[in-house]
Amino acid sequence: MSRPPHLAPVDLPQAYRLMNHGPTVLVSASYEGRRNVMAAAWAMPLDFDPPKVAVVVDKNTFTRGLIEGSGRLALSLPCRDNADICLAVGSVSAKDGVDKFARFGFASFSGQDPALPLIDGCVAWLECRVLPDAPLAARHDLFLAEVTAAWADCRVFRQGRWHFDEATDGLRTLHHLAGGAFFSPADLLQARMPG
Ligand SMILES: Cc1cc2nc3c(=O)[nH]c(=O)nc-3n(C[C@H](O)[C@H](O)[C@H](O)COP(=O)(O)O)c2cc1C
Repeated sequence: MSRPPHLAPVDLPQAYRLMNHGPTVLVSASYEGRRNVMAAAWAMPLDFDPPKVAVVVDKNTFTRGLIEGSGRLALSLPCRDNADICLAVGSVSAKDGVDKFARFGFASFSGQDPALPLIDGCVAWLECRVLPDAPLAARHDLFLAEVTAAWADCRVFRQGRWHFDEATDGLRTLHHLAGGAFFSPADLLQARMPG
C-alpha cells in the first residue's frame, strides 16, 4: 500500500506531542517537613495488578528530591476548573523558595498516607510507592511506582469509567498540547467490534 495522501512529516523533537494528550497530572510529595507539587504531562499507567504508573520527573525539579527522599509520590488529576493552577505549579519551581500552596492559593488534603498532599479541586488522586530503580531515574528521569490507594470525584468517575457531560463541564480532565494549551475530552465515542 502506498502512503496515505494526508501523511505529513513531524519534526522528531515534536514527535512526543503526538502522544502527549493523556491527562496531565500534578505530582506531589513531601519529605523532612517540605511539601511540593509540580505538573507532569508525561505520566502513564504501566500495569493492572498490582496497579503501577510511570512518570517523568526531571532531575532539576524540587519535587524530585522529595520523591527520592520519601519514596512516595501522589498524582492528582486537575480539570478545567483548576487549569490555571496546573500551569502555575508547572511553571514555578519551589527551588526558588516558593510555597506554591500559599502563593497560588489552593489546598491539599490527606488520603491514606498523612504525609502525601492530595490537591484539592482535582478530580482523581493516586497515592504511590516508588519502585526502586535508580538507574532508570538517573538515565531517563523515569519513576515507576505502585499505586497504593486511589480516589476519584464520583460526579465524573463512576462504575470504573469517566462520565464527562455538559453539567460537569469544569470537571473534565486536562490534556496538555504545548505552551500551556490544553484540551479536555468532549465527545464520548463507544467503538464496536466490527462484524
Ligand atoms: C503542563 C505541564 C506539563 C509538564 N510536564 C512535565 C513532566 O512530565 N515532567 C517534568 O519533569 N516536568 C514537567 N513540567 C515542568 C514542571 O512541572 C516544572 O519544571 C515545575 O516548575 C517543577 O516544579 P518544582 O521544581 O517545584 O518541583 C510540566 C509543566 C507543565 C506546565
